[in-house]
Amino acid sequence: MTEHRPDAHFRTSLLEENDGPGTNPTDNQTMGEIIAARFSRRGFLQGSLAATAIAATVSPLALILADDARAGGGSVFSFDEVEAGVDDKHHVAAGYDADVLLRWGDPLFADSPDFDPTKQSAQAQERQFGYNNDYVGFIPIDGSAEHGLLVVNHEYTNPHLMFPGLVTIVDGEAKQAPLSKEQVDIEIAAHGGTIVEIRKVSGKWQVVRDGKLNRRITANTEMALSGPVAGHDRVKTSADPTGTKVFGSINNCAGGVTPWGTYIMAEENIHGYFSGELQEGHKEAANYKRLGIPDGSYEWAAHYDRFDIGKEPNEPNRFGWVVEVDVNDPTSVPRKRTAMGRFKHEGAESIVAKDGRVVFYQGDDERFDYVYKFVTAGKFNAEDRAANMDLLDDGTLYVAKFAEDGTLEWLPLVHGQGPLTAENGFAGQADVLIGTRLAADLLGATKMDRPEDIQPNPTTGKVYVMLTNNSKRKTEQVDAANPRAENAFGHIVEIVEDGGDFTATKGKWEIMLKCGDPSVAEVGATFSTATTANGWFGMPDNCAIDAAGRLWVSTDGQGPKATGRTDGLWAVDTEGEARATSKLFFRVPIGAELCGPLFTPDDQTAFVAVQHPADGGEDWEAFGRPSYYEDLSTRWPDFKPDMPVRPSVVAITKQGGGKIAV
Ligand code: FEO
Ligand code: CA
Ligand code: CA
Ligand code: CA
Repeated sequence: MTEHRPDAHFRTSLLEENDGPGTNPTDNQTMGEIIAARFSRRGFLQGSLAATAIAATVSPLALILADDARAGGGSVFSFDEVEAGVDDKHHVAAGYDADVLLRWGDPLFADSPDFDPTKQSAQAQERQFGYNNDYVGFIPIDGSAEHGLLVVNHEYTNPHLMFPGLVTIVDGEAKQAPLSKEQVDIEIAAHGGTIVEIRKVSGKWQVVRDGKLNRRITANTEMALSGPVAGHDRVKTSADPTGTKVFGSINNCAGGVTPWGTYIMAEENIHGYFSGELQEGHKEAANYKRLGIPDGSYEWAAHYDRFDIGKEPNEPNRFGWVVEVDVNDPTSVPRKRTAMGRFKHEGAESIVAKDGRVVFYQGDDERFDYVYKFVTAGKFNAEDRAANMDLLDDGTLYVAKFAEDGTLEWLPLVHGQGPLTAENGFAGQADVLIGTRLAADLLGATKMDRPEDIQPNPTTGKVYVMLTNNSKRKTEQVDAANPRAENAFGHIVEIVEDGGDFTATKGKWEIMLKCGDPSVAEVGATFSTATTANGWFGMPDNCAIDAAGRLWVSTDGQGPKATGRTDGLWAVDTEGEARATSKLFFRVPIGAELCGPLFTPDDQTAFVAVQHPADGGEDWEAFGRPSYYEDLSTRWPDFKPDMPVRPSVVAITKQGGGKIAV
């Protein structure tokens, strides 16, 4: 899985570990590693489909029952599954096309230079599609499902895959040279987000290169801090004595599109970008320790003082927020909405509650961190877009406490309530928000197994929480909502808010699915018996609900060693007898995780983001060595010898048209 990726000497892979504060520093072999060793043996036996491998752990009767269940069907998804496995290409279910729509470096404007990886510059990158696409959203133009704005986050950069001449192999080990200032500038320009007009023509999606709303946002774009933290002393810097103006957004993981059609970029692993040391006894020490700041994985501080906390100690407080972008005006100033809290935001997917207030669900992706929701104070006005533009500056942030009896409480993070007082270091609401994790710690929130995407389902009223894994949870730390020690494969929690009201402060929850190979008894996975050897998965990360109200889950961290399969997109039944039946629809090339996913409002297109392809390959027998620019485990999607691997957004459509999986 990701956290044991052998290529971890490349620093961006280290970031993926989310191995922040509060984790166990011991090197004991975990259950995940023991199971992983089994998978690598099974991989050797010709993939995880090997009948002998399955028969070794499952009784013949169970296999017969599973065959019967499969024959009986019951899934609401209609397609022929892809075969799980590992190779250097993508694969989609038969009868579907998976067309690459946007690749790293693709021109986005009429005047953009063509992509030349040997002559890349920050100026070119600012006019081209960024690196490591993550969140994908679609904002229809004039209500069309075939014409709209695609909004895409660019989470991070992998210099060893991006830049020629950076890596040398010494005694079989990859060594990466320090980045030049020019390369750091390219990294900064490759971060952020893309807004680009797209249109379906004769059944195929095209980029509208001269779209007047096309825009690149980078780690240098001017943004405003808004809400309760704006102007606070703790966010003032030498470049911004007002504490209201920030340059850039970093590590935009998942995100969201609001009901009023703005684009949400969620800042996740911000700790990696900061280096240096706080002065002895600095008042931000506890705050930064709780977020793992500084981590120093990126080399930006070598060229820009603001990333050195010894020189600019407040700069990290200006990151870790949710950013809202008005896509209708390409000159609009993106706003960091501080009322929604500061942590390692995976995403912020939203839904309009019965009374018109809007509820945003947010995961804080770190081992033992929390599930949050934000409820706006004001109500959504469907008739007047402008009236909604500052809804995110005022509302209540809650953190979840999952009780053993299947009930759930949302605890408000409000200054003056409970322990959130000056005696405990919170002089006002700004302190509660800047130190969201510290405040949630005091409230006794439930420590989860890395909360990733959280998706409300407007059709059923249920909410799905992806918990990707937590190899550091010890047996004595197991609880009802996180029931497996050394949770290598993650699980999915389903929430039903009281009275079907998304603003409710109480609800019920249950575990919908424990992930991993159901044929290995020690894993304890709970896929339905109708789930095939291709259909199970581990490490759920992003998810989507299609227009029919069905759940789709994409994964991060599988691979030859961890599960004998690459990451991909799985269709997961949530209702009736087929509940917890999962089917593989699409899978990615070696080294990649799958982000997005996103369905157009007509369910005729699924957009998926293939992130960090070729980041890894040592544990794949067919490659078996470090993967880097000159020697890549895959050159997806171009497969040209002079073209590096390129993270890309893929549009999946049914051949001949029609709704997906119907
Ligand atoms: Fe950026 Fe939590 O994945
Ligand atoms: Ca993610
Ligand atoms: Ca999602
Ligand atoms: Ca992840």
